[in-house]
Amino acid sequence: MLSNEVAAILNENKLATVLVGLFSVVGALFIANKTLSFLNLLVDLYVRSGKSLQQFGAGKGAWAVITGASDGIGKEFAYQLAAAKFNILLISRTRSKLEILANEIEGKYGVQTQVYAMDFTKGDLQDYEKLKEVISRLDIGVLINNVATNHEIPTPFIMESEELINNIVEVNIAGTLRITKMVVYVMAAKHRGLILNIGSFAGYVPTPYLSVYSGSKAFLSTWSQALGAELKPKGITVQNVNTYFVVTGMSKIRRSNFLTPYPKPFVRAVLSKIGVPCGSEYPYTSAAYPSHGLANWLIANTFSWSWWEARNLESHIDIRKRALRKREREAAAAKSQ
Ligand SMILES: NC(=O)c1ccc[n+]([C@@H]2O[C@H](COP(=O)([O-])OP(=O)(O)OC[C@H]3O[C@@H](n4cnc5c(N)ncnc54)[C@H](OP(=O)(O)O)[C@@H]3O)[C@@H](O)[C@H]2O)c1
Repeated sequence: MLSNEVAAILNENKLATVLVGLFSVVGALFIANKTLSFLNLLVDLYVRSGKSLQQFGAGKGAWAVITGASDGIGKEFAYQLAAAKFNILLISRTRSKLEILANEIEGKYGVQTQVYAMDFTKGDLQDYEKLKEVISRLDIGVLINNVATNHEIPTPFIMESEELINNIVEVNIAGTLRITKMVVYVMAAKHRGLILNIGSFAGYVPTPYLSVYSGSKAFLSTWSQALGAELKPKGITVQNVNTYFVVTGMSKIRRSNFLTPYPKPFVRAVLSKIGVPCGSEYPYTSAAYPSHGLANWLIANTFSWSWWEARNLESHIDIRKRALRKREREAAAAKSQ
């Protein structure tokens, strides 16, 4: 009787020892995996170099096409790609802004420029036909799919206007697909090209109150990954640029901070890390600016998706409240004048 009890205790102790050993191994593997992944992020961000722009035709007469080129991130791509000796085709809505920028770029960098003004919200097929003619005459090395439109302020889907929903789909999705289709023919014929799709963390972590913009950027992310695999054998590099906040008109942030760079350092980071994931776990995707790469890594490796989405919801409810109060103040000020 006594020996049975002793045997049972010994067996229980053995089981406990085996379980503790098993959990220790699993724990150690988990920590090793996370540590390696973090070290890999640091190497990507601070050591590894991206593909050289020369392989896409820089300095050899090739052109870079930039949509949404007259402001913010697109304008900075225009400067930096011209400095790298690409000729530049600038596309956006306001012709006068494009012409001023084109003159400045020609004077400063000694490259050729062309401008093409169109409003993507119109979805006018004649605009695209004319643009196709322009593009078919150029040796295109780079396409920056940068143009996008967003909700004016965070707004519940149920309250959002039909017009704004259509505009987001037309600009962020349909326009991007149409221009890419024109450009890939030209690139495939030369067996070289770079397509950068300017994505957003709103397409990575679902963003309530910006649901249509968020969905359009998720489309861009998945489409970039599928297209990247299709076009790789044709010598074309595709990359979704997972962008967090940048100081521009769209973000409405006026001053830079750790997480929010000015367009200049942001674009410099993107162009120096082509083909390097920098914290992104998806293929054909990068989060090249250091704090953006870090944010991307933390989101992927710490709390659950529903936790991050809940934080996104809280923050956008708060942003909406502040935006509505600002509207009220502006309306009151306008009334009193
Ligand atoms: N800024 C951020 O924090 C942030 C974060 C994540 C992702 N992004 C992404 O980065 C990209 C660039 O954004 P940004 O912040 O640089 O924006 P931005 O400063 O507001 O510039 C937008 C550019 O797009 C053009 N554009 C806007 N609507 C247009 C339309 N309907 N037709 C033709 N052109 C139009 C504008 O042209 P006009 O000057 O002629 O109006 C301007 O050149 C977008 O894809 C955005 O989603 C930005």
